[in-house]
Amino acid sequence: MEAFSDFRKQSLPLIEKEMENFINEYTANDQLKEAMLYSIHAGGKRFRPLLVLATIRSFNKKAQTHDYQVAAALEMIHTYSLIHDDLPAMDDDDLRRGKPTNHKVFGEAQAILAGDGLLTAAFQLVALSQIESNQKILLIQILSKAAGTQGMVAGQAGDLQGEKRSLSLSELANVHEKKTGALIEFALLAGGILAEQPEEIVDLLGIFAQHLGLAFQIKDDLLDATSTEEELGKQVGRDEALNKSTYPNLLGLEGAKEALNEQLTKGSNTLKAIKETSSEFHSELLQELLEQLQL
Ligand code: IPE
Ligand code: IPE
Ligand code: MG
Ligand code: MG
Ligand code: MG
Repeated sequence: MEAFSDFRKQSLPLIEKEMENFINEYTANDQLKEAMLYSIHAGGKRFRPLLVLATIRSFNKKAQTHDYQVAAALEMIHTYSLIHDDLPAMDDDDLRRGKPTNHKVFGEAQAILAGDGLLTAAFQLVALSQIESNQKILLIQILSKAAGTQGMVAGQAGDLQGEKRSLSLSELANVHEKKTGALIEFALLAGGILAEQPEEIVDLLGIFAQHLGLAFQIKDDLLDATSTEEELGKQVGRDEALNKSTYPNLLGLEGAKEALNEQLTKGSNTLKAIKETSSEFHSELLQELLEQLQL
């Protein structure tokens, strides 16, 4: 199996191409297109689409055009979630991916619409892709669950409620699992489904993703408290300013780091369990993605 850095280098241009081509071809308003492409072109780590593709690759499959399209759709939904997350009515942030936030450039109304556009286009992209019909319907079902009222949107609602009162640790874990974990879980489930893995393996990939997703948001909370604007490309210290319930806020910096490490260890153990269950599975790429979350 190639190193993650090579895998990333090969995969990124194809993810970018699918997002860009689709938005260019399927957006019937130039300013809307410009606002959507602004946030897509601003970059980001592309963690979620890389996870979809790394999962497929872990079963020794070569990704096809439709796999890149599912990965691209997921990144479009993630990018929409960031545009809306930054709005004055939500986290009220001025900087994202090293650039002024979408609403700072295009105004609030156009930013809301750019988010709406990215969300809807993502489903259109999957619906139009050359995926076998049953598989496609399953993917659309789990993507709508992950992005919507049982997943990210529900988590964002809980996150905002967590500004008004201090959440318990289990309530906070639940918010994190939904607002951030759900899209990450979709990445692993989709990767397993597209690689035509049996249910037992897809379920284990889902468990791995739950640890990965929770670790991802705990790290995001830690970096908000300890990193710099230059390093993150977004404002820092916002969680405290907004009085958010976060892991560092509830457990302290050390306690939050321990909670992060606990999730990383559980994730790593789940990869071992997948390896024991499937002789086709190579854990290296996902293990590397997991280790990137270490602080
Ligand atoms: C930020 O996500 C929002 C969270 C869910 C924590 P990322 O850290 O993946 O942001 P980008 O895509 O790299 O900008
Ligand atoms: C965002 O969480 C989760 C989303 C669904 C977008 P945060 O609000 O902590 O993300 P950042 O710190 O603004 O990137
Ligand atoms: Mg937020
Ligand atoms: Mg935010
Ligand atoms: Mg944050």
